[in-house]
Order: sequence, then structure tokens, then C-alpha cells
Amino acid sequence: MEHIEVKRKKVDTPTVASLYFEWDARVLPGQFIMVWVPGLGEVPMSLSKTGKEKCITVKAYGESTGKLAKTEVGELITLRGPYGKPFKKSGGDILLIGGGSGMASLRPLINRRSTGIIASRTPEELLFSEEFNADKRIEVTEDGRKGIKGIVLDGMDMVNPEDFSMIYVCGPERMLKAVYDKIKDKNVNAQFSLERSMKCGIGLCDSCSVNGYQVCVDGPVFDMNQLRDMTEFGTSKLLASGKRVKI
Ligand code: FES
Repeated sequence: MEHIEVKRKKVDTPTVASLYFEWDARVLPGQFIMVWVPGLGEVPMSLSKTGKEKCITVKAYGESTGKLAKTEVGELITLRGPYGKPFKKSGGDILLIGGGSGMASLRPLINRRSTGIIASRTPEELLFSEEFNADKRIEVTEDGRKGIKGIVLDGMDMVNPEDFSMIYVCGPERMLKAVYDKIKDKNVNAQFSLERSMKCGIGLCDSCSVNGYQVCVDGPVFDMNQLRDMTEFGTSKLLASGKRVKI
């Protein structure tokens, strides 16, 4: 466990805040860390910035993340890691597809040749959209107040997936499955970042298992071939209690 001071904070959307800190560890895009929230346990977080200055982008959706998102500049966060397999790099034109706060783990991959499909329910929740070149930014909102009205799949209709050397996807699992189904029969390479309940983060507890894979060590990034065999992908998952629920 390391105790690291938060150097700056940015409130990105009404429910999402980024905490920036300096940490010498080498972290690759797609890997995650476990962040300790005193009294509540650990939260797995992917990094939204992976250079010398690093960043976690926290969506406040429960007690632990709500408390973490309230961390202020000068306070310490306690973390361990990094863990998991990173995104495999690709040259050429890449497509990043992020739903909700999913764009956080894709953010370190943004470059001048990346096209982004950034989807959210409302314009206020569009995350890191401004970091893409204006001509490579496809915004999608469910309420239609900005960009294309609809869901991620409507944004995908604006591009030909086969034009890209790699497609990177992160967001709610139903969205991941919908994207997977849309491109599975095409001639494309794609990597998806999955989320599961994680207790240990290092392959010991099996709380993150999906069809024999452990998301914490075999993932969280999976490619099309791995997903093809996963019957639980997009259909069910284990809660922290061990109970299996539909997605
Ligand atoms: S979180 Fe414990 S095995 Fe993956």
C-alpha cells in the first residue's frame, strides 16, 4: 500500500471527478489499481492518465466511490498495484468507444489519429470529449441535446469499423456486448475492458471470474477471440456477495 497526495482535482461532470497525483510506478493504459476507501473497502480504478502525473477518474455511484470522489487536494489516497493486462498498442488510426465513465480508461490512448465515439445520457456527462480533435469526435447523447441522439450504436453508424487498425471499447457491459455483436462478423481488431466485482485484484479470491477467466489477472482487457467463448459476457455477473445476477 502506498499513500499518495492528491495534487489537483477537476470536476469533469456533475457525477465524475478526476484526482491527479504523482506516482513513480509504471502503469500502462488499461491496467488498474486498488484504492482503499477507509471504512468501506477497496475500489478497483483504471487510470485516466499514466505518465509521471497520474489520474483516477471517479464516478460517484455508491458509498465508496462517492466518498473517494470527495477527496480534496492535499489529502492522501491509499493504493496498491498496478494490476491486470493493459491494452495492446496499435499504430495507425484507432477508434475509441466510451460509454458513460468508460472513456476514463481509454483516455491515455487518445492521440491525434484517434477517433472517439463518446456516449452518455446527457451532454453534461460527456467525458473527455474535448480531448479528441474536433473532426474526430462523435458525441452521442440519449436525450439528444448534443451530438447524435441515441446510443453508442448510433454513433458507430457514422464510421466504418473496418477503417481502423484497432477498436478499443469501455463502458457498461450491455453496451460492450452490443458493440461486440455489431462488429463480431467484420474484419476488425478490437479490445474491450470489462468490469467485475474485485476483492483481491491478484487472482486469489475468484470474485471476478467470467467463464474461467479472472478479470483481475487475465483482463480487464479482453480481445474478440477471448470474448467469443464467454457465455457470461453481457449476460450475468457475480456481486460482491457471491450472488450471480443478470446484467
Ligand atoms: S479479484 Fe480476486 S481473483 Fe480477481
